[in-house]
Amino acid sequence: MADLAFQRCIDPSCRATVDLADTSFQCPRCGGLLDVAYDWDRLPVPKSLAHFETKWANRSDPLDFSGVWRFRELFPFAPDPTIVTIGEGQTLCQRADAVAAYCGMNPGQVYLQYEGMNPSGSFKDNGMTAAFTHARMTGARRAACASTGNTSASLAVYCAAGGGDPPLRAVIFIGSGKISYGKLSQALEHGALTVQIAGDFDDALRQVQDVSRRLGIYLVNSVNPFRLEGQKTIMLRVLEALRWRVPDWVVVPGGNLGNVSSFGKAFIELQDLGLIDRPPRLAVVNAAGANTFHQLHGRHGLRWNGGAVDRPRLSAFMTAMDAAGGRADTLASAIEINRPVNLPKALRALERCGGVVCEATDGEILDAKAKVGAGGLGCEPASAASVAGLLKLVKEGVISKDETVACVLTGHVLKDPDATVAYHAADPAVFEAKLGKRGVRRASFANRAVQVPNDLAEIVKAIELYA
Ligand code: F0G
Repeated sequence: MADLAFQRCIDPSCRATVDLADTSFQCPRCGGLLDVAYDWDRLPVPKSLAHFETKWANRSDPLDFSGVWRFRELFPFAPDPTIVTIGEGQTLCQRADAVAAYCGMNPGQVYLQYEGMNPSGSFKDNGMTAAFTHARMTGARRAACASTGNTSASLAVYCAAGGGDPPLRAVIFIGSGKISYGKLSQALEHGALTVQIAGDFDDALRQVQDVSRRLGIYLVNSVNPFRLEGQKTIMLRVLEALRWRVPDWVVVPGGNLGNVSSFGKAFIELQDLGLIDRPPRLAVVNAAGANTFHQLHGRHGLRWNGGAVDRPRLSAFMTAMDAAGGRADTLASAIEINRPVNLPKALRALERCGGVVCEATDGEILDAKAKVGAGGLGCEPASAASVAGLLKLVKEGVISKDETVACVLTGHVLKDPDATVAYHAADPAVFEAKLGKRGVRRASFANRAVQVPNDLAEIVKAIELYA
C-alpha cells in the first residue's frame, strides 16, 4: 500500500513527498506541515457515499463497526490487519431545536454532533485510532503528546486498551495548573507517564516536539497528519446522519486547529472525488482569551492565498505576542492555546470551504453550555464555544436562520465538572471565586440547588413549589 498512500508537504510551491512510514511529521525541504495523500486513481473509490451503508449490517467486523474505520476507503493508509480499533466513533448527530431557538435559528436547522460518546469522552479518539495504528505500523515503542487534557486521555486509553506486545507506552506532557481533573484522572488511571511542565500548553507542545525528536518517540499531537485522517470521519458521520445531505455550515471550536483542518481536507477530497457537489462553509470559534486565529484571520486578513500565506506578517504577529508575553487565558481550558500548530492548514480549509472565524467570551461559552446541557447532551466548556459562536454569527447575519448547521460538541460534560458546578452554584461566593474573578459576570441559565431544612414538610413544600 506504500506507494498508494504517502505524506506530502501542504505548500503547493514545495510539494515534497515523504514516505508513509516517516514519523518526523515535518517537510524535509521547507519545514512545513504534511498531509497524508493518496493516489486516488489507483484506489477503489466508492461511487457514492451511500456505499457506506453496506457496513451497518456488518457489526461483527470490528473495522466496519468502528465509526471511524467503516469509512477507511476514504483514508486508505493502513492494511486491515494492522488497524487498532476500540470501537471509537459511535457518536450521535442530534437535531436540537431548543439550541436552535437559543441561537435564533428555525426549528430543524441545528444539529449537534456529540463526540463526547467516544471511549475516552472526546473527539480525540477519532484521530488517535488512526495515529495509533500508524505508530504500530512504524514499530514505535513509545508515543507522546502535549495536551490540554483530551489528547492525553485518548492516548492513555489507546496505550492501555490497544494491545500489542509489548504495548505502546504513553508519555504525556501537560502544563501546570490548567488541566481539568476529569482529564488528568484519565491519564493517571490508564497508566500514562505524566510529565507536568512548569509552563502552559504552548510551552509543553514545544518541549514534546523536541523531546520526541531526540528520543525517537512517536508524536501524536495534531501536527501528526494521520490523526487528522481519522478526524475526517466526524464529518462523514454528520453527512451520514443527514442522509448524505451537506449542511450549509459546520461550526467547530478552534484550539490547535486540527479539527477544522481535518474537516476541510475531508470536504475538499469528497468534492474532488465527486462524492459531494459542494463543501459546507466552516466556522471556527476561538475563546476570546485564546483568539490568535480570530485575530490573524479576522483583524489582520491573513489568508491561505493558494498557499502563498503572508509568512512575514504571521511571524511578526507571533514575535510581537512572544515579546509582550502573551499567554492564552480562558475557562475553556481545552482550547487555551495561542500558537496553533495547524494554522496554515486551517487557512487552507477556510479558503476552500468559504469559512469564517469568530470568538466567544467565557461567559458566552458557559451560557451556551448550559443551554446544550438543558437539551440533554452535556458538553465541556470548549465544546460549547461552537454554540456560542453560532449565536453570534446568527446575530451578525453571517448565518441565516433557515440554513442547516452542524455544531460539533467535542468533549463530554464530565470532563470538567468544576466549571459546571461553579456555574450552577447556589452560593455566590463559589461563583465569584471560580468564575467571577475570571471575568464571568453572571450565569444566565443557572439551575441552582434548593436549600431546605432536614424536615419532611419543608422538603415537600419545596418540591411542590419548584417542580
Ligand atoms: N474541544 C476540545 C474538547 C478539545 O479537547 C480540543 C483540543 C479542542 C476542542 C480544539 O480542537 O485543536 O482541533 O482545534 N484539545 C487538545 C488537547 C489541544 O490537548 O486535548 P483543535
